[in-house]
Amino acid sequence: MEPLKICWVSSEMAPYAKTGGLADVAEALPAYLGSQGHDVRTFLPLYGRIDTSQGFTVVEWMVDRPLRLGGRTFHYTLVTDSAPGDHLQRFFIHCPALFGREAIYTGDSDEAIRFAFLAKAAIECCQGMGWAPDVFHCNDWHTGLLPLYLRHHYGWDRLFERSKTLLTIHNLGYQGMFPTSQLGALDLQGCAHLLYRDDLDAGVVGFLKTGFLYADLLSTVSRTYAREIQTPEYGMGLDGVLRARADHLVGIVNGVDYALWDPATDRHLPYHYSAEDLTGKLENQRYLLQATGLDAEPSEAVFGLVSRLTAQKGLDLLFEPLQEMLAGRDVRLVVLGSGESRYEAYFARLAQAFPRKAFFYRGYNERLAHLIEAGADAFLMPSRYEPCGLNQMYSLRYGTVPIVRKTGGLADTVQLFDPATGEGTGVVFEHQNADAVRWALTFALRLFGEPEAWRRMVTNGMAQDYSWQVQGARYEALYRAMANL
Ligand code: ADP
Ligand code: GLC
Repeated sequence: MEPLKICWVSSEMAPYAKTGGLADVAEALPAYLGSQGHDVRTFLPLYGRIDTSQGFTVVEWMVDRPLRLGGRTFHYTLVTDSAPGDHLQRFFIHCPALFGREAIYTGDSDEAIRFAFLAKAAIECCQGMGWAPDVFHCNDWHTGLLPLYLRHHYGWDRLFERSKTLLTIHNLGYQGMFPTSQLGALDLQGCAHLLYRDDLDAGVVGFLKTGFLYADLLSTVSRTYAREIQTPEYGMGLDGVLRARADHLVGIVNGVDYALWDPATDRHLPYHYSAEDLTGKLENQRYLLQATGLDAEPSEAVFGLVSRLTAQKGLDLLFEPLQEMLAGRDVRLVVLGSGESRYEAYFARLAQAFPRKAFFYRGYNERLAHLIEAGADAFLMPSRYEPCGLNQMYSLRYGTVPIVRKTGGLADTVQLFDPATGEGTGVVFEHQNADAVRWALTFALRLFGEPEAWRRMVTNGMAQDYSWQVQGARYEALYRAMANL
């Protein structure tokens, strides 16, 4: 079969710029596609935080290119850390005026312009290369205007005659809503008839919602989330629009890059282990407890949590149950994350109240995230909604039992363990309240007290395969169907 030409555009990509799972997907899926011989070119803003001192080169014929947006002319230079002819070529858009800031996301007044620019620059780079992608793969609101721009602002260019657009929703909670006073700056002044009337009347324009109108196909990162977002409960005001496009909305669970997330090879871990021999897991646990200053040798389980601390993650559901568990049982808790102050304050208080049992590190730390996955017995993800979630899949591979709420990708990747049959990979609860969490924690501790059952659940989890080999193939099939290839 003919190799595909895929243009990937996103606001995050590990290891260069990451706040969450989008970065992991943006790193791994294009890499998988490139490894399959497809011609994949990715576009990411060159944020101030990206260190270009090693291995980066300027694309000589793409230096200081002008791009007009909203009556202003910005200049950008294309930079890459790949070699010409590689199946995967990562490009970075160097436009200091817009991206030369430390943060990926800013509250600055030109936030809309920054990402509108990303979309246009990606299209113009393809023009500059004379390269017609089969599919422009857009991700989240930051790239939401690309399908509209492609069709209406660059519709004259026959290069893109056959190009299709796929918009993947990683998180409906972030919609990129901006005041209509910015329409001119986004080159949408003359396009009011192409935008949602109701929104315009309300004085706003939504990047994501506009993408829903013009992308050839929509996808999201699990089948359950694809269903959920068509309901008022999870649709965040966009369920009607999504229902209208239900025939063009698919769900594909994310994959895991096991080259980075496998306890047998993980470069962040002091001890390696596998399903056949879990000794290293116990050693990692000892190491983790010592490093975090917690009491060694708990008679019950060690719980871990790594998360952006936002409302999405359902952390408030843990407030009372965790406190009770720490007071009443011989458990440990290691939490890593940063975000909203109410959650940070809660975990800081918890660590203060139980200094020998609970530890909280406020911040972002790659190594600690891996150590927690390896050293904990169970991993907490009580999300109110979760498009896919990667940490529960990492947990499965690390023999760390995921305790999850039955929503989105969590529902699709973790099955409730049934002691009667020995089937299942974790603890799954349904309701968004403290009692449901209490039940889940108690059930997990009960199973932990039955070593055979626990071992079985751990082994079941470690045997799951969510590799990009499997999930990436689904995207390939999707691209082919879209591009008619
Ligand atoms: P989301 O994208 O909603 O944040 P995911 O579960 O898909 O949720 O992905 C989260 C990713 O970000 C994982 O790779 C996780 O390990 C990482 N992560 C989140 N918070 C931190 C943190 N404080 N330190 C290190 N890694 C983190
Ligand atoms: C989002 C979602 C998360 C998903 C990630 C990657 O940030 O919150 O569930 O795993 O994107 O698709």
